[in-house]
Amino acid sequence: MNATDSLESALADLEALRASGRSALAQAQDSAALEAARVEHLGLKQGRLKTAQERLKSLEPAARRDYGRAFNEVKAELEQALEDARNRLAHATVQVEPVDVTLPGIRPRIGRLHPLTLTMTELKNIFGRLGFSVAQGPEVEDVWHNFEALNIPESHPARDPLDNFYLAAGAGIGQRAMLRSQTSTVQIRVMEKQPPPVRVIAIGRVYRPDTVDATHSFMFHQIEGLMVERGATMADLKSVLSLFAQAYLGTEVKIRFRPSFFPFTEPSVEVDMLWHGKARWVEMGGAGMVDPNVLRAVGYDPEEVSGFAFGLGVERLCMRRYGIDDIRLFYQNDVGFLRQF
Ligand code: DAH
Repeated sequence: MNATDSLESALADLEALRASGRSALAQAQDSAALEAARVEHLGLKQGRLKTAQERLKSLEPAARRDYGRAFNEVKAELEQALEDARNRLAHATVQVEPVDVTLPGIRPRIGRLHPLTLTMTELKNIFGRLGFSVAQGPEVEDVWHNFEALNIPESHPARDPLDNFYLAAGAGIGQRAMLRSQTSTVQIRVMEKQPPPVRVIAIGRVYRPDTVDATHSFMFHQIEGLMVERGATMADLKSVLSLFAQAYLGTEVKIRFRPSFFPFTEPSVEVDMLWHGKARWVEMGGAGMVDPNVLRAVGYDPEEVSGFAFGLGVERLCMRRYGIDDIRLFYQNDVGFLRQF
């Protein structure tokens, strides 16, 4: 360019720049193409607009005003076109990935109740219909409630430290503390608090240092039952337990009592159940008439009232019911297993 550059040709070039810039910016289909069009036309270092601006100097001073006005127009127009193109692409990106409302949604994973929870709820319902209310006791117990009041003396092998989880001296509850080894503790706690008649069940965790295998766990659940009133007999015990067994496992279930021994009942029995079509009786727990020593320990008069008690394994009942053959499945949080209930 030199000072003889003509206004006409400069304006014509400006027109060409306007057309080229407009179409390049308007046709860019993605941000890379738009950026290329921007650099070519509006780039600050070597863009065509920049070159056109510098051309001003090569024009006659008289022509500069007209050229300058035309230049400003084109510049403003291309800047607007750039902005329009940016808006168009930003808007387009949203539309490029529309939501397909016909695709299946993402199903939220809904939890469900653990089989033991289901079983415990059902046990409470059945015994509720038989007139039993639900009592609770602590899992950290003292030896009075776990042994002493249940007629289990210091010398009894059931109190062996190897068979119990004793806690460090004190453990905040005064006398020697332990994790309860049976729910029979709740019998004592209930009778200490209220006079007869009593008709309660207690369901909860118990702890014993057993080696874990398919049928043993260091923690499991028991359901305890206690009924104390004037004239309660072994016949009441048997009818309550058979009504329960039929309600829980089906009307074809049979129960049988086998003579046994527990320090807190006299006489004592083991409770067996037999399923329709099975050859073998299965032991479900223990039961008996509450020992007079136990009634005396809580201030009841054994001449006035009598009672029966029973204790059954919740896991066992649940396993029977659902055909589960390994107790460890209850505690492993295997979602594949738990999802079946
Ligand atoms: N507590 C006993 C146990 O854990 C089970 C038991 C037996 C409970 C006889 C009772 C009962 O209430 O009368 O082995």
